[in-house]
Amino acid sequence: MEKFVIKGPCRVKGAVSVSGSKNAALPILASTILFDKTVEIKNLPRVKDIETMINLLRSLGSKISFSKNKRAVKINNSKIKKTFASYNLVKTMRAGILVLGPLISKYGSATVSMPGGCQIGVRPINYHLSGLKKLKMNYEIKRGYVYANAKRIVGSVIKFPKISVGATENLIMASTLASGKTILKNCAIEPEIKDLINFLKTGGAKIKWIGKRTLEIYGVKSLDSTIYSVMGDRIEAGTFCIASALTQGDLNVNGLNPKIINTEINLLKKIGAKIKTKKNQIIIKGSKKIKNLSLITTKEYPGFATDLQAQFMVLLCKAKGRSVIQENIFENRYSHCAELRRLGASIIVKSKKAIIYGGADFEGAELMSSDLRASVALVLAAIASKGKSIIHRIYHLSRGYENLDKKLKKIGVNIKKIR
Ligand code: UD1
Repeated sequence: MEKFVIKGPCRVKGAVSVSGSKNAALPILASTILFDKTVEIKNLPRVKDIETMINLLRSLGSKISFSKNKRAVKINNSKIKKTFASYNLVKTMRAGILVLGPLISKYGSATVSMPGGCQIGVRPINYHLSGLKKLKMNYEIKRGYVYANAKRIVGSVIKFPKISVGATENLIMASTLASGKTILKNCAIEPEIKDLINFLKTGGAKIKWIGKRTLEIYGVKSLDSTIYSVMGDRIEAGTFCIASALTQGDLNVNGLNPKIINTEINLLKKIGAKIKTKKNQIIIKGSKKIKNLSLITTKEYPGFATDLQAQFMVLLCKAKGRSVIQENIFENRYSHCAELRRLGASIIVKSKKAIIYGGADFEGAELMSSDLRASVALVLAAIASKGKSIIHRIYHLSRGYENLDKKLKKIGVNIKKIR
């Protein structure tokens, strides 16, 4: 199994470009099921989850061809033969459940493996199912699969009991071809959701925000051929910004509109980083003294992103004084704490809260990756540690970070991938 060997401490400097957003690309790819004509999606990140979604679409009968650089695909879904998403494909990537909405809306039938729980929490899909039921989908759950059918998906009014990114996406996709009008209330407003809507609108979907978290969707009969470029990855951008703040770095992070990560940029300013922003660029210099944050709480967008919680924790381990993080989205998203302690961190976890006593002097060690964002946090910590660290099970990282080692090497990190 591949591992990273990192020799620290390193200081990051130079420029790095973020790839296309995985979390935007996955629902956009799933939503191509709604189209009869060929669509072209550009700026795809070259990561494992995208490969898995492409394999899932191919297993349904999609005709897909990649551009030479593998960042753009042409997809024709006019010959979809199957409406079955197997456990084998869905087990490694929760986004597999996102084919349910488009399949049921377009074909009136879908059998989709239930995604399993995962490292970070239980992650149920009850809001996806109850929302689709309101649009006249019938379903039963048998032997790990959702068996769903519908004569026709019919518009309705749905209020999500809790804000959910995945459920909002599934319901937007299902409503796009529904008969009549759908109102979705208490929607997630993550930038990736806006990207999905923008994509569908270029194909002729009638989707409009009529309130901060309320969508009005008029079902259309069909969608037109279109070309769309996926937004940049805000979590990757945030991760690189943290690398600079952590190492007294001097880094230009390119490829994302800085306004999208305003919340995190403000937190980085609070801990002492010097930040300037331009249209598609964040220029960030880390300061010698990192200040603590008395309490930060993960929240739905525009709140502090749960996908950057682990990376911020590394920074706070190095801060002067005590900080507290509260994880409000997932019940088990602190697996990185035990590994950070092995480097010298002082962290206590009490239910949703992690109390971080700053001023840690990290010394390199062998570390075990557990999930995607926890793994990248370990990479950051290793960069800021004295001596050699070996990070095991880095396959988690390839799910969501494109060429992480190559990008880090280019900005001054002593990192090697070995077997
Ligand atoms: C979530 C994050 C998203 C992140 C992704 C991967 C939020 C709001 N969502 O999206 O930013 O990129 O993980 O780490 O930050 N829930 C239910 N029933 C459901 C659906 C969700 O109870 O049917 C609960 C979840 O357990 C969770 C919360 O609602 O506590 C938000 O979940 P949701 O946004 O759906 O998760 P993801 O779409 O995976």
